[in-house]
Amino acid sequence: MQIEEAIRTRRTIKAYDPAPVDRAVLDELFELARWAPNHNLTNPWRFRVLGPEAVRRLKQAAGPEAAAKLDRAPTLVVASATQTGEEVQDEEDVAAATIAAYIVLLGAHARGLAGYWRTPDVLRTRDGRAACGLPDGERFLGLLHLGRARQDKAPPERAPADDFVIYLP
Ligand SMILES: Cc1cc2nc3c(=O)[nH]c(=O)nc-3n(C[C@H](O)[C@H](O)[C@H](O)COP(=O)(O)O)c2cc1C
Repeated sequence: MQIEEAIRTRRTIKAYDPAPVDRAVLDELFELARWAPNHNLTNPWRFRVLGPEAVRRLKQAAGPEAAAKLDRAPTLVVASATQTGEEVQDEEDVAAATIAAYIVLLGAHARGLAGYWRTPDVLRTRDGRAACGLPDGERFLGLLHLGRARQDKAPPERAPADDFVIYLP
């Protein structure tokens, strides 16, 4: 799949087949992610693939109502950015790690898989972070859902470029 087609056709998918993504495929995606642009080559991205025990802990932290949503995708990956406390570097490291997370989604899509970047409240809590082994000082970015799609989705409307591009004289 060509890059432009991949960018245009990637969609947020919320219904998945139960089969988890193979580890070899995940490894390919993480290898791809490390090519994200990254000022000072700090390698700030972190990806934690949740095994059954981690998912159980996360569901417990989320509570019964929110836990059901954590069963939607067979493979869950916590994406985060390391932080040093140096303001400019931290900001740039969040940007770089965000790009790396997008590469994971785009690479999954290019391989015929579906993805969903989700930011559930539980990962903003101490218990939720602990359930996924997120250390203090690491910035949570998203709980990436990966798997085979069980739904089609039309692209949501996007604002045209004229609305957000400014050419300065
Ligand atoms: C930082 C970030 C956080 C997101 N968090 C959520 C979320 O918590 N729940 C959700 O339904 N979608 C979430 N999304 C997905 C967006 O809703 C989705 O990308 C948007 O609707 C556009 O659809 P598309 O991805 O199919 O183009 C998130 C996306 C990003 C980039």
